[in-house]
Amino acid sequence: MLILGLNMFHADASAAILEDGKILFAVAEERLNRHKHYGGFPALAVKACLDAVGAKLTDIHHVAVGQDSDANLAKKVQYALANPGKILNFIKMRQRKEAMRDVRLLLAQALELDPKQLKFQEHHVEHHIAHIASAYYCSPWEKAAGFSYDGSGDFVSTMMARCEGTNIHVLERVFLPHSLGSFYTMICEFIGYKKYGDEGKVMGLAPYGKDTFVEQIGKIMTLKNGAFRLDMSYFKPLGSNQGMQVLPDGTVRLARHFSEKMEKLFLQPREPYSEITQRDMDLAYAMQHCFEEVFFRLLEDLHQRVGDENLAMAGGCALNSVANGKLFARTPFRRTWIQPAAGDEGLAIGAALYAYHAVLQQPRREQMNHAYLGPEFSEAQIESTLRAAGVKYRCMDREPLLEAVANEMVAGNVVGWFQGRMEWGPRALGNRSIVTHPGLPNMKDVLNARIKHREWFRPFAPAILADAQHEYFEHDHPSPYMLHVYKIRPKKRKSLCAVNHVDDTGRLQTVTRDENPLYYDLIKTFGQKTGLPIILNTSFNENEPIVCTPAEAIDCFQRTKMDVLAIGPFLARKTEN
Ligand SMILES: [Fe+2]
Repeated sequence: MLILGLNMFHADASAAILEDGKILFAVAEERLNRHKHYGGFPALAVKACLDAVGAKLTDIHHVAVGQDSDANLAKKVQYALANPGKILNFIKMRQRKEAMRDVRLLLAQALELDPKQLKFQEHHVEHHIAHIASAYYCSPWEKAAGFSYDGSGDFVSTMMARCEGTNIHVLERVFLPHSLGSFYTMICEFIGYKKYGDEGKVMGLAPYGKDTFVEQIGKIMTLKNGAFRLDMSYFKPLGSNQGMQVLPDGTVRLARHFSEKMEKLFLQPREPYSEITQRDMDLAYAMQHCFEEVFFRLLEDLHQRVGDENLAMAGGCALNSVANGKLFARTPFRRTWIQPAAGDEGLAIGAALYAYHAVLQQPRREQMNHAYLGPEFSEAQIESTLRAAGVKYRCMDREPLLEAVANEMVAGNVVGWFQGRMEWGPRALGNRSIVTHPGLPNMKDVLNARIKHREWFRPFAPAILADAQHEYFEHDHPSPYMLHVYKIRPKKRKSLCAVNHVDDTGRLQTVTRDENPLYYDLIKTFGQKTGLPIILNTSFNENEPIVCTPAEAIDCFQRTKMDVLAIGPFLARKTEN
């Protein structure tokens, strides 16, 4: 049975394909059309899914979409009636959503087929149910607490659920306008980070701040009976799309979130690219602190209601790796399974899995054991692309390649590492990565000056052999998808200075041989030479979506000051080119 999952006309449009419940392929549209956070129809992703499994659209039995415009309709109507100025908007949005619901027509248009040929059954899965499904059904557990939180989706910002067997039983929904995601976005905008997806950057700024504004910012949110409410006087009216708009070209635009009250209390909002002051850092600190306090209280309540130590989690806010790293100390949960594509691209997988298990009641057999679900390219394709680009390269066997790349990293050189299938989700996990030595004092500046051009306060991440985690980090729970931040042990901080953040933490990726043998062996080889079973891993890109194809990788290698490119079995050095 083939199921196609879609996230469409929503940020991070994507597609995924399942065969008998096994995820065979998944990709976000942005990686294919190179339009960051693209929010239109994922036509290229659908084609890539079908090509990857050698199927035609007419072979698909079910299509599942991670959006249900009929979900929570009573709440939406109630909201519109309470805000008369929004009624026209509400009607327009309903009309637009109705047009988008015709999945059959949209798919037929994208693949130039007659819609009558398409026999699939269609499923619309509520946004946050799809998020929870994307975590729970991928986990190894038969029972878990399910939690999803983000800005908004189908008029809900937070969902709690009891997950058991093939069922997801919703326990609680927090409706708009109350949203932890919107709270975070509002303060990020105030301190000059106004683009969709900027929240992850500001998380790195928080440890530079002090607790000056914790009390004031804390007043924006109140907790009551296991849910929370925002004081809307700090916000501009956002409407039922919670201030997020997808333009006709697929660009995702955020409306201004903060009200004049924020300016009265904290004075001028920071202009993008201007100097970051102590005020901005202190606001970032208070934002992260207050976010965590509410998050932990919600999880405590969820734990009480479900009575299980396993937490399956997704939603854009689940990318808050700092909060994820602390939840073991602050809540009764002992294990997490967080969907690597916790943001909205993950809805494609979640909707498809929900249709398979909950709607069609098919048993659970498969787990998701790695995130390498995207496109891959043959050696012949890579080699012809290198030739076409005029790059000089050597073809190497596995062991000599690992030796050569490890030696480059030991020497402090920066390596573009392009291997196998592209990662699913926002993190590069060793197949589309830039890798180098994690213990050289100037490495962060070198990477930023030569390639990444990121904000000075953003840390780079360590990828560590899972067996060595305990020796270097103060927490043992695995972090295979770079979704947990832990303290680095005091004795190890100096040797990891390029990945040790200002608060002595690292957003680590734990690597096992089963998940990625080549990457594991690369780190191991580096460890044999340096005594450090850890490398610095950052995404293979330069202010663009992570590279997907060999041509994009070669282009990034050529236009930046990257020293080496290891692409498949081929090694190219900048000095020889
Ligand atoms: Fe979402």
